[in-house]
Amino acid sequence: MQKIIILDFGSQTTQLIGRRVRELDTFCEILPYNKFPHEDPDVIGVILSGSPFSVYDQEAFKVDLSGIRGKYPLLGICYGAQYMSYTYGGKVEPAGSREYGRANLEWFEQDNPLFAGFCQNSQVWMSHGDTITAIPDGFKKIASTAKVNFAAYQAENEPLWGVQFHPEVFHSVQGSLLLKNFVVDICGSRQDWSAASFVETTVAELKQQIGEDRVILGLSGGVDSSVAAVLLNRAIGKNLTCIFVDHGMLRKNEFRDVMHDYECLGLNVIGVDASQKFFADLQGVTDPEQKRKIIGRDFVEVFNAEAKKITGAKWLAQGTIYPDRIESLNITGKVIKSHHNVGGLPKEMHLELCEPLKWLFKDEVRRVGRQLGMPEHLITRHPFPGPGLAVRILGDITPEKVRILQDADDIYIRGLREYKVKLSGEEARKVLAAGVPAQMTDGEIEVSLYDQIWQAGAILLSTVRSVGVMGDERTYEHPVALRAVTSTDAMTADWAHLPYDFMAQVSNDIINHVKGVNRVCYDISSKPPATIEWE
Ligand code: XMP
Repeated sequence: MQKIIILDFGSQTTQLIGRRVRELDTFCEILPYNKFPHEDPDVIGVILSGSPFSVYDQEAFKVDLSGIRGKYPLLGICYGAQYMSYTYGGKVEPAGSREYGRANLEWFEQDNPLFAGFCQNSQVWMSHGDTITAIPDGFKKIASTAKVNFAAYQAENEPLWGVQFHPEVFHSVQGSLLLKNFVVDICGSRQDWSAASFVETTVAELKQQIGEDRVILGLSGGVDSSVAAVLLNRAIGKNLTCIFVDHGMLRKNEFRDVMHDYECLGLNVIGVDASQKFFADLQGVTDPEQKRKIIGRDFVEVFNAEAKKITGAKWLAQGTIYPDRIESLNITGKVIKSHHNVGGLPKEMHLELCEPLKWLFKDEVRRVGRQLGMPEHLITRHPFPGPGLAVRILGDITPEKVRILQDADDIYIRGLREYKVKLSGEEARKVLAAGVPAQMTDGEIEVSLYDQIWQAGAILLSTVRSVGVMGDERTYEHPVALRAVTSTDAMTADWAHLPYDFMAQVSNDIINHVKGVNRVCYDISSKPPATIEWE
């Protein structure tokens, strides 16, 4: 399988470069800047990402490009461009003022393949504190903006380019065209990476890898584990046994509904209602990390007890996806991991690990799900934390509090699904790029609020009580906070600007129908500094 390698120098937009390359139906791998796979015969081109460093910083990430330059087409983006220029004898200096924001690009060579099809003065997005003030001998300037002299350069007669703007971000209007020119025309991608080809090759590989062995998979109701299960089911059928543990803190009716979906999909699934055990072990526990530990431990225990009943199992399958595995570099060079997993791999089971989605981004997982014919409500389901509503109830957990929260959450989520909004421009593009199947009519699409946001849920502030009045009665009950965020990867998130009429309706419905709640608030904190979950 042909692939583009993206060497990550720690930029916040490195993953975005990866997504853009995948949108060109081309496989790519994002690797730390110094981990280039010199022996890999499938590499067809290399992209160097941006970085938070200046090339002359002591701690700047530096790498020897000698085994890469001359062997593969190379594109440096921002720091990547500055690094190549600096390394090969050019000059990089602090820009007089930070070059940030929109600029118009003027290019100089009609036939330069990087700019094929580009309009003059096309808008590009700049974001850098340094600038290239001289390019190496044997390099030529191929584009400028009003403020940036060497906005793009090329090594003469060599497939090596540097651009100081960010073609991967939406505000670079023809950025996708530039990446297509590089990936397809210059590197020669056959553009044969698609959901259909992924399903076909992965099913064949799984058949070969697993043969007649038995596989166990833990289902969570979420999109990743569900798609992994359906893919494995297609490859090995009844040799796959799925286990779905109900810890009692799922959404309202979720266990029942999801089990029904799984059965309709023909999965061999064992549903285990272990809620009594979890409630008993969580009694009186208020500390969030303690809750997580207990749930994690109980989950492994319940899962193991079921898995042991499946004789002859050799593999444990998981729905791990690519962003869970990418080693993003932060400015101290440490690896950031934002992965929370409930159970983790039960090591003592001596099972081999099978992760069929480990190369996919979330939107690609959804596309594969659609390719496999899975129902849309399963595919577009929001992420949900492993410990479930336990981390959305402040204070200790009781079945009654879970019931209250389930009812409030259910009204909220149903409301989000039912409320339709019309989107155009960038907003519409974002939703469509995420794979939501919506029809564009007169430049507009209609989607539900639910599909427009990354994640939503209700939180029960059970440690707080406030006074209210219902009819002639004084009430003294708990508030519910509503949370809805937009995000692409849960690493950063913004609170969603939900319409006021929607919020008014939901607030009324919750207070009127959920006994135990007399006040509704909306959380307007972004991440950072807050987090998505309250606990
Ligand atoms: P935070 O709250 O850290 O959440 O901003 C980021 C994403 O992770 C989910 N999350 C969890 N998922 N176990 C999980 O499986 C957990 O303990 C956990 N805590 C947070 C959260 O829902 C969001 O998608």
